[in-house]
Amino acid sequence: MSAVKKVNTEATSALYDFEEIKLSDKLYTKFATKMYELAGVDLPFTPKNHALIRNRIVKLLRRHSLKSYEEYWGLLERGNNDLIQEFISALTTNMTSFYRESNHFDFLQKALPELAKKCGNDLRMWCAAASTGQEPYTIAITACEAQAEMPSAKVRLLATDIDLQVLKKASVGTYEEREMQGLPPVQRSKYFEKVKSNGDEFFRAKDQIHNMIRFAQFNLMNPKYEFQHKFHVIFCRNVLIYFDEATTKRVIDNLTSCLAPGGYLILGHSESGNVKHSNLKPLSRAVYQKI
Ligand SMILES: C[S@@+](CC[C@H](N)C(=O)[O-])C[C@H]1O[C@@H](n2cnc3c(N)ncnc32)[C@H](O)[C@@H]1O
Repeated sequence: MSAVKKVNTEATSALYDFEEIKLSDKLYTKFATKMYELAGVDLPFTPKNHALIRNRIVKLLRRHSLKSYEEYWGLLERGNNDLIQEFISALTTNMTSFYRESNHFDFLQKALPELAKKCGNDLRMWCAAASTGQEPYTIAITACEAQAEMPSAKVRLLATDIDLQVLKKASVGTYEEREMQGLPPVQRSKYFEKVKSNGDEFFRAKDQIHNMIRFAQFNLMNPKYEFQHKFHVIFCRNVLIYFDEATTKRVIDNLTSCLAPGGYLILGHSESGNVKHSNLKPLSRAVYQKI
């Protein structure tokens, strides 16, 4: 059991000095294994990963007024779904931005009119690790920008993530100025409106893009991906980097099975190294077409 030092504060109450609480190697392994089982996120034992798990779980100790990682592990083991979701949320990395790896959106804008023709103007896209929403809103904006060349197309976009907290933010679609990074001023004023709350200014996605997107929780570790329709475009970017080789292969197989023939799979720039699939033809950086 870790020793916990009590720190006297100016107030009469005493707070625990959470920085002093040690995370043993054995418990590290339990947390890392749990995350692997739940989300496929691979956290091999390294000083960096040890610090990551420690720093992220210490916030949960504070939240639940616990004094050790052992106590938190006990809670998690007995825990309900809310605790599991909170654990997943704490250990996922949600970094994202508008127009991240922007060549993918240039590609999409050019590809959509042709795809729309092929699919009878019923375009279906999936953003499979949507985080706080900047990526699916960028996809929706790109579809709007292509609309003049596919005037009859109906575009539907499914945005999913394993993390319910980020998904909630994505579905609200309201951002602080710092979260708008990457969105050019023209698109910002065309597709977002300024709103005020408690004197602070935010940017809210307008209905034109908001209504195009359906948000839902989806774990890429699901053994089978069962959707009613095939997708014409799937974005699954900057999440495979957290998976090991076997998991990556399984996820790519599953994603490919969800693509319509001629449809596109778009991965993160650094994720194309492991893609070997007989039905996927590489087109440009981290962009594949199902053959
Ligand atoms: C670094 S963000 C990338 C966000 C966005 N795709 C981008 O490229 O900007 C990775 C996202 O993958 C999600 N994620 C991690 N494991 C997942 C899983 N097993 N199933 C679905 N989403 C997962 C995380 O919650 C996180 O929001």
